[in-house]
Amino acid sequence: MPELKSITRNEINQEVVLTALLVDVKIKKTKNGKKYADLVVQDASMKREVKLWDADEEDPLMKKRDEPPVVELVALVGEYQGRLQLTIKKIREVDGNTVDMRALLPSSRWNYDQMKQWLAEFRDRIETLPIKTLVDKMVFEEPYYEKYCTYPAAKSVHHNFRHGILQHTLEVLKYCVMVATTKKLTQRQVDRLIAIAFLHDWAKTIEYEPLPSNQLSDEGKMLGHIFIGAHSAMNIINSIEDFDRDDALIILNGILGHHGMMEWGSPVLPKTVEAQILHQVDKLSGDIESILSFMDENKEATENFTERLWNMGTEYYKGGIS
Ligand SMILES: [Fe+2]
Ligand SMILES: [Fe+2]
Repeated sequence: MPELKSITRNEINQEVVLTALLVDVKIKKTKNGKKYADLVVQDASMKREVKLWDADEEDPLMKKRDEPPVVELVALVGEYQGRLQLTIKKIREVDGNTVDMRALLPSSRWNYDQMKQWLAEFRDRIETLPIKTLVDKMVFEEPYYEKYCTYPAAKSVHHNFRHGILQHTLEVLKYCVMVATTKKLTQRQVDRLIAIAFLHDWAKTIEYEPLPSNQLSDEGKMLGHIFIGAHSAMNIINSIEDFDRDDALIILNGILGHHGMMEWGSPVLPKTVEAQILHQVDKLSGDIESILSFMDENKEATENFTERLWNMGTEYYKGGIS
C-alpha cells in the first residue's frame, strides 16, 4: 500500500488505495448549499487533506472521536490551485487491531536505540548523587521510562510524533551542555541544569493520552504538565535522603519557570542562570522544529512562501533549500 508522501504528480488522474488514520473532519457547504467534508488523513509519512463530496453528517466516520479511526480509502488524485488534491471515491473504517500502528504514526527520524544510549550518557554526567537519584527515579525507572521514551512532546506545533519527548529532551540536553561549557558553569550548576532538562516536560506523559489519540487527558486539562512535573519532582525529592535545599529550589523553579513568562503558562519566572538557559534552549528546540516541520508540510505548494506559521507570527521563505 502506498504511503501518503509517495503520491506525486505522476499519479494525477489515477486512483490510489490507502490505509490511514482519519485525524480531522470538517463538514462544509458549497455555494449551492451542498454538504461536503474536508478530511485530514495521516500515516507515518505525512498528513494530507482529502475531499469527500456528498458527505453524510450522520455517518459515524464523520463524528468527532477521541481516538482517530483507521480507514481504508480509494481516492482520485487531482490538482487544485497548484496543489495535489485527493478526492475520496470510497472510504470505510477498518479494525485498528488488524493494522500495524507504527505504519500510521509519525515517528522521530532519529535512531531509537541511539537516543536511549545518549539519554543514559547525559544522566551519567551528573555528579551530585541525590540529583542523579532524582533523574533515575523519574526517568530511568518504570512505570516512567517506557512512556518517556515513546510519547510525543506536543499535540501539534513541535515534536508531535512518537519518541517526541525523547528527541526534544536530547536536543535540549545538548544545547544546555553547550551553553554550560561556553559560559563555564560550575559542575553543580551543570548537574542542576541537566536535571531540569530531563524533567521539564516529563509530565507530558501524564498530560496527554497515548498515541494515536494524543488528546489532553483529564489531568492535562485540569493541572497541566508544569504543575504535575514540579509536584511529582517535589514528592520524589522529599523521598531522597540528604537532598540539598538549594538544589531542590533551583530544580523546581527550573521546571515551573520553563515557559519563561507568566503569559506563556509559567507560574513563576526563571530565577537562576540554569533556569533561564533551560527556558531559552527549550524555546530554541521547539521553534526550530516547528519551522522545519511546517516547511516540510508546505513543500508541495508552488508559492515562494509558506502560509503564516501561527506560533512564530510569520510566513517562511522556501527558496534556497536544495
Ligand atoms: Fe513545556
Ligand atoms: Fe520542552
